[in-house]
Amino acid sequence: MKNFRIIALAVLTLSATNLQAQKYPSKLLGNEKKIDGIISQMTLEEKIDMLHGKNMFSSAGVPRLGIADIEYADGPFGIREEMEPHSWNSAHLTTDSATFFPTGSALAATWSTHWAYAYGRAMSREARLRGKDMILGPAINIQRIPTGGRTYEYLSEDPLLSGMLAVAYTRGSQDDGTAVCLKHYALNNQEDYRGFVDVHISDRSMHEIYLRPFEMAVGEADAWGVMAAYNKVNGRWCSENEHLLTTILRQQWGFPGMVISDWGGVHSTVDAVTAGMNVEMPGSRYMGQALLDSVKAGKVSEAVIDQRVREILRVRMAVKPIAKEEANRVPVGNKEEMAVALEVARRSIVMLKNEKLLPINSKRVKHIAVIGENAVTKMALGGVGAGVKTRCEITPLEGLKSAIGNSMKISYAPGYKSFDRGSRNRRQSPQQAANPELMSEAVKLAKSADLVIYFAGDNREVETEGSDRKSITLPSGQDELAIALAKANKRLVTVVVAGGPVDISTVNDVSKSLLVSWFNGSMGGQALAEVLTGKISPSGKLPMTWPIHLEDVPAYATGSYPQNIQNNAQGDIFVDITQNRSNERRQQLVANYSEESLVGYRWYDQKQASVAYPFGFGLSYASFRYDQLEVQPTAEGFDVHFQLRNVSSADAEEVAQVYVSRPSSRIERPVKELKGFQRVALKAGESKTVTIPVRRSDLCH
Ligand code: GLC
Repeated sequence: MKNFRIIALAVLTLSATNLQAQKYPSKLLGNEKKIDGIISQMTLEEKIDMLHGKNMFSSAGVPRLGIADIEYADGPFGIREEMEPHSWNSAHLTTDSATFFPTGSALAATWSTHWAYAYGRAMSREARLRGKDMILGPAINIQRIPTGGRTYEYLSEDPLLSGMLAVAYTRGSQDDGTAVCLKHYALNNQEDYRGFVDVHISDRSMHEIYLRPFEMAVGEADAWGVMAAYNKVNGRWCSENEHLLTTILRQQWGFPGMVISDWGGVHSTVDAVTAGMNVEMPGSRYMGQALLDSVKAGKVSEAVIDQRVREILRVRMAVKPIAKEEANRVPVGNKEEMAVALEVARRSIVMLKNEKLLPINSKRVKHIAVIGENAVTKMALGGVGAGVKTRCEITPLEGLKSAIGNSMKISYAPGYKSFDRGSRNRRQSPQQAANPELMSEAVKLAKSADLVIYFAGDNREVETEGSDRKSITLPSGQDELAIALAKANKRLVTVVVAGGPVDISTVNDVSKSLLVSWFNGSMGGQALAEVLTGKISPSGKLPMTWPIHLEDVPAYATGSYPQNIQNNAQGDIFVDITQNRSNERRQQLVANYSEESLVGYRWYDQKQASVAYPFGFGLSYASFRYDQLEVQPTAEGFDVHFQLRNVSSADAEEVAQVYVSRPSSRIERPVKELKGFQRVALKAGESKTVTIPVRRSDLCH
């Protein structure tokens, strides 16, 4: 079954200037007079107190004037548990659980702005119940390397897909009353050496690719918060980068809100506050007493302090404060939000291959062998950084058992031992060899079954904040096991549970069917079971390219990643960030984004390099026919119209995608670029006229 794409030629003469998409009216600018009054009553000490952390996840208001503290909450995919006030330790409450939403790459695989909006709204409902004012998300950095430790948290390799979902998530969250905090601004595209890598990049590529999602969420969704990233851009720390924080963010994009630092990411006092940093998190090393002294010594004017305070008060007055005693009073992780997590999970699952084994034929199959520890592994927590304490996470095995009941026998064998960073024997690495005992037990079970469902992939210990993967090879000897399973029973379905691309060359060869189900949230196991049993059709599309070899990836092919410095004991680098201690040599680490705008599919198209599965790919149980393509100019650019028909007997949803090429361009452009998409639900036999707008501002360079 071919994977259809529509290539619409942009036949319009485009204005050379980069037209801003129509501005989304900001809700932050309605209290300026009131803010004048508040600032005029504040002492300098009270102003400075607002500009740095109070606790690990809060910054001060003005108690004397009844201005509440600002409470922040990690995680782009769920409201993190309460932490101790001044440490990274959990507070071990029993009242702070939440819904574990599908993580970024899963949300992006839905290509659904509708469900991204619902996702943002549901996140906000939970944030409010937990007493939070600002969600530290969405995390919208471009996935420049598939091995990036936070690829699972980010959305896509493409700026339009990332941007449109970020806009929807932001509108959802802020319409419900919680501020977002777009992160990490900007060019935080790797976890190794994130605390000091200096990204060198041209203006064009920076705007066209890496800043675009931030620009869209600010300009088209009025994002109220932005988090400055740990790294440097063109020689300056993001937390004191005036070009990023003032010239682009505030002057060009008109951002009226507040910028907080990443935790421990501030490196100066006067430079940071002057460049546009509002709140140093979590401590006050630079923007506490040191800033007060600097103002008193005349090194920075009180007018600058007032402007930073104004930007914070604008957000504070847009978000209803929640009294401490109201927070964490009502249990969170309720059925309405779980339902949103399920709807997103259902649409995220990508089917890459299916030679007749799916959906499971209940007439033929009486005994299913479920192999692989990822069938029972929970992904809500793990690794470093944001995780979600949730009361419910349905694993794939649980999902299958409840969907199939006793109509078929289901047996399980772990097959391999997953990598666990916290494990005692530090020698363990994700690439450890297969475990012979586990393997032979799994092979024996596979032989006896009518169908084998093999759960490969990695987990939250392998894909984590703070460090990148060194390889995309499937961990724990999973390739070897896949070959053995296929020999034992050729009726093999493989499900890859991972947040970012893995090397699927082996499992693709030996499996009749192959799916990706991501780190798919509290309801992921139910959603997957519904796809496997045919209750719903798979409809996800890859939000990033799955390469065959790491060497084909532009960042690797250009030699700009990985950078190698000697004693890179990962742990102490993270410690450096918190203690802001990094030696001179490390500060020289440069990542030269010499591939320019050719990130992801833009590169593979240009180089005509083959990939395992392309960006935007995903199969369905249904077949769709595209007809009567028309392109009509409009005031904003042009509309792409076409007929879409479901020519099968299975109800399903399709994600139609519009790519634009401009062969006669005066300047270098990628072969094609995504410039529009739409998810369309079609019952069996149903046909719809689809219109996808393409905006001139998205065609500018
Ligand atoms: C971390 C992350 C950031 C997170 C913050 C608070 O270092 O980079 O995404 O929101 O610190 O946990």
